[in-house]
Amino acid sequence: MEQTKLLALLDQMTLEEKVGQLVQLTPMFFSEQGEVTGPMNELEMTKEELFQIGSVLGTRTKEDVISIQTTYLANSRLKIPLIFMADVIHGYETIFPIPLALASSFDTELVKTTAELSAFEATRAGVHVTFSPMADLVRDARWGRVLESNGEDPYLSSQMTRAYVEGYQGEILSDKDTLAACVKHFVGYGEAEAGRDYNTVDMSDLNLYQNHLPAFRAAIDAGVKLVMSSFNVWRGIPSTANKYLLKDVLRNEMHFEGLVIADYAAVHELINHRVAADKKEAAYRAFSAGVEIDMVTDYYQHALPELIQDGLIEMDQLNQSVLKMLELKNELGLFEDPYRGLKDETLDRDMTPLRAKAREIAGQSMVLLKNESILPIQPSEKIGLVGPKANSHDVLGAWSWIGNPDKAITLEDGLKQAGFNPTYVEREIDYVQLKYCDKVIVAVGEISDEGGEGASKTSIALSQRQVELIKEVYHWNQNIIVVLVNSRPMDLSAIQPYVKGILVSWFPGSEAGIAIVDVLSGRVNPSAKLPMTFPQSTGQLPMSYNFLSTGRGINEHNHAQKYVSRYLDSDNAPLYPFGFGLNYSQIELDQVKISQIDQTTVEIKYQITNHSENAGSEILQVYMQDKVTEVARPERELKYFEKIHVAAKETVNGMIRLGKDDLSYWHADLSFTMDPGAFDFFVGFDSHAPLAGTWTYVE
Ligand code: GLC
Repeated sequence: MEQTKLLALLDQMTLEEKVGQLVQLTPMFFSEQGEVTGPMNELEMTKEELFQIGSVLGTRTKEDVISIQTTYLANSRLKIPLIFMADVIHGYETIFPIPLALASSFDTELVKTTAELSAFEATRAGVHVTFSPMADLVRDARWGRVLESNGEDPYLSSQMTRAYVEGYQGEILSDKDTLAACVKHFVGYGEAEAGRDYNTVDMSDLNLYQNHLPAFRAAIDAGVKLVMSSFNVWRGIPSTANKYLLKDVLRNEMHFEGLVIADYAAVHELINHRVAADKKEAAYRAFSAGVEIDMVTDYYQHALPELIQDGLIEMDQLNQSVLKMLELKNELGLFEDPYRGLKDETLDRDMTPLRAKAREIAGQSMVLLKNESILPIQPSEKIGLVGPKANSHDVLGAWSWIGNPDKAITLEDGLKQAGFNPTYVEREIDYVQLKYCDKVIVAVGEISDEGGEGASKTSIALSQRQVELIKEVYHWNQNIIVVLVNSRPMDLSAIQPYVKGILVSWFPGSEAGIAIVDVLSGRVNPSAKLPMTFPQSTGQLPMSYNFLSTGRGINEHNHAQKYVSRYLDSDNAPLYPFGFGLNYSQIELDQVKISQIDQTTVEIKYQITNHSENAGSEILQVYMQDKVTEVARPERELKYFEKIHVAAKETVNGMIRLGKDDLSYWHADLSFTMDPGAFDFFVGFDSHAPLAGTWTYVE
């Protein structure tokens, strides 16, 4: 539909119809006959108001969408189609690894492909917008939502966030296989104090600009269509009512031109924050701050008309938001076809091939942390299998609500499918059988409900029961391989000395079992790296590799002194650092050469050799330390990463260039510039990479 027709449509709309476009409700408001249902009564909404709303979130099937759209259009005066939104976080019915696992691949193409496949399947169920990617920077594994994130590094998170948006949105939204993306949660939600969900956030402007905004900038640069405001406060004001964040920063400085949607009932929650006394004030503060869609409350529906009539909100501001909503529906092709192809059976496809892709993607997203000559396993070996995740279907992880766990492949199934004949031992009294096994796989970790929203924990240690299980098995057999099924970094210090192999599988999704065995058996050579630090203990949290220099940082010279930044009961080191992960090859980096290309460009040449007979991949990582800066800066910052495949006995030569944008940082006055002076570069395969050289920028 041409813009002129959209503007003409806008002119035809009543005030109530305009406001209605900014209201989003759940499917339960639309019963079969469209009669007023319970929730409607709770929100005191009339049938007329229901058939003026603009969007619905959380449908589950194509039939849901067809039914609701049909009922809605039959009752809508102007027949402006509904837009359907959902949390397609790591797949729809075919479930891929959780986002934190995908981030561990350090492979943007893999993430982009996962998003494309998710969109491919979700659009055939009638979804138009996904509330993804989650771009929150995270450093506290007590927070259950780290599983939805891309980890602790702003550069890694930016690259992955961009890849999701490109994968979901494709080249053009009129393509029926694409989803409009909604990047979330703007902003700072991941720094909830004590890792407790929905808790207070209090951070500096510098932390915001240096760590939390970059991924949102990347999403906007990639053309993301929506931004979701976060539940938390920033500078004491909830993001949902934060004009500085939503207008000064998001609109004026970051140039976002799409729609801003509140998180679930967040407009109402301004009252819980005690920054609004009632519905009218909450609606006023949210809308005037820049929130344009009210998710599942009636506050905009019932308060915005009055605010407009009172002159507290300009009609022009309302018109701008409503027009953007009409434009998004138009981009998606909904005016031409409100069902976006759902009624065209020829567009239906068999989604089975997505399972094979899910298996491949999962194999690239598991991190091998320990391997004392115990992996890979061979079908000729007698393999014991023990533990709560050994034959569990609970392998999809949070936010996979359409996925069917019963259809997921268990680890036991995976072993059998791959030609192994595991001795599965369920009862403790039978552990004695394990002494006749060559190796024992102990599958432990979390249940999916321990990750995601509202799932913070005071301890990230393995449960005592699981620690005891491993020690009991150790009594009978010391060739133990731990497979971890987890939503977050976990404290593995209690079991690490008792095992010879540790594979972090995260929640691997529908193909979990066979993908895990692909890695354990060497069919897939592991290549993933930790996107979040694995600490020695919960007490070290929040923790990340890119900590700032302090006046009393600990080092090899002062580590015995008392008055340095340290603990009495632990050293500062992680158990496993950011960027770390093993493989089955013997890939080494050498001949790293740093040189200057021009005044603000540094070139890094390198050679990587695979000394083994196993083809494999490594994740080349380049970290930087800006030696002297105006504000305290990280000891190391990731500035580049690349997954590099190296065939057996092959040598690969490569070159990277870093320029002004890579070497600039946010100053105290929030200017983003590059200072003259020396820069150290660390090049290797994890965040402990050795110093490769120093380069000086002379103005
Ligand atoms: C939830 C989450 C958000 C999600 C939204 C809709 O509360 O915070 O991430 O997209 O509601 O389900």
